[in-house]
Amino acid sequence: MSQRISIHGQWSSRLMFILAASGSVVGLGNLWKFPYITGENGGGAFVLVYLLCLALVGIPIMMAEVLIGRRGRQSPVFSWQSVAAEAGASSAWKLAGWAGMLAGLIILSYYSVIAGWTLAYLVRMVSGSLMLVTAEGASSIFTQLVLDPERLLAWHTIFMVMTIKVVSRGVTKGLEQAARILMPLLLFMLVVLVAYAWRQGDFAQAYAFMFNSDFSKLTPNALLTALGHAFFTLSVGMGAMMVYGAYLPKGISIAKTSILVGLLDTVVGLLAGLAIFSVVFAHDLPAGDGPGLIFQTLPIAFGQMPGGSFFGTLFFLLLVFAAWTSAIALVEPMVSWWVEKRGIDRIRAAIWTGISAWLLGIVTILSLSSWSFSFSFGGVLKRHGLFDVLDILTSSIILPLGGLAIALFAGWVMSRDAVVEEFEGRAGIGFKLWYFVIRFITPVAVVLVFLRAIGVV
Ligand code: PFF
Repeated sequence: MSQRISIHGQWSSRLMFILAASGSVVGLGNLWKFPYITGENGGGAFVLVYLLCLALVGIPIMMAEVLIGRRGRQSPVFSWQSVAAEAGASSAWKLAGWAGMLAGLIILSYYSVIAGWTLAYLVRMVSGSLMLVTAEGASSIFTQLVLDPERLLAWHTIFMVMTIKVVSRGVTKGLEQAARILMPLLLFMLVVLVAYAWRQGDFAQAYAFMFNSDFSKLTPNALLTALGHAFFTLSVGMGAMMVYGAYLPKGISIAKTSILVGLLDTVVGLLAGLAIFSVVFAHDLPAGDGPGLIFQTLPIAFGQMPGGSFFGTLFFLLLVFAAWTSAIALVEPMVSWWVEKRGIDRIRAAIWTGISAWLLGIVTILSLSSWSFSFSFGGVLKRHGLFDVLDILTSSIILPLGGLAIALFAGWVMSRDAVVEEFEGRAGIGFKLWYFVIRFITPVAVVLVFLRAIGVV
């Protein structure tokens, strides 16, 4: 297969790919979702299953996804199509690209709303209005925000404009530039916050909560949540890593870079969890409070701690940066597709993608207030109606199925020679191990977890 360069450009170095891919993986998933789902699912045993999902499913799929992207060198839909054609397989594989693009749009729509919450909290932290807030005060501030559609819409709009602005500038001037500036700052802030939580919080209790496993708390639904989160946090299963792979120059090791990015994501998630729970437990606050955890619970703790206003501001700034670089990756598959398909310029493609996701985001905003309804999924009560439906549809259904398609395609449909070629022609022990995992372990694990969640096994 020809190794053309993508028409959208390519990463200027290995480091730039690592920074941009890390920007994509490290996001609200690590800092907001992972802590609250760990809290909801009882801690240790859930974390262990999640780590297994990362090692056996998430990271191997990330390698396969980047590989398909680099071979196809186009937007996910067209990469699927051309790599399937090369393998002599049905063009129906491109449906996985379509499903991924749809998932990306849906995730972006609610991701931007939650990112809007972080912007709102950043402003509150800077203004000092959260200092010495009581539990009732924090809860009413959060509820007032979430139940105020106009305010949510304003923040959602600001965040979407920030994201579209970067993407419209292109791979080098937009995506790379943002990653180059934001990622080092983000990692630095995280280290400062962990050190702060270590000194001021209850690190021992946080550690025990996250690493002492009580398997009786592990429901089938928790397994699916852990698997879904492994996909979400690594940004795999929907084409974001595929399009980042399409911009990866030849000669850069997919295996090494993917493993590095996967490990970084894991370390960031665990550190964020430890830092957040240390602060939460130091003030005897509850861990299982759901999506409000970092918004309702943390401000109470920060409000009472020495230097809390400064470190609270740092925390919400960290969240904004993490959300921003991830949202950029959510937009890219659709923008690249639009440019290829319609031949329109990137700025217009970015604006249209932004408008579509922005409109869909209104569904999330309304489902938090006026359209809210409750329902159960796998025995767990969900409270926000459509918002939860969209989250489950993407994280727990489309991403794992997309990941399954990627594993089957790289493991069974592409020729082994083509796959080895993308591994720089080296089929050593590392390659053999990965190839075995992607062919046998990953697909079986995904299918089993699915069947377990729907009660078949
Ligand atoms: N990995 C991101 C997070 O953990 O917040 C979420 C995400 C970003 C998912 C980009 C998918 C994606 F394409």
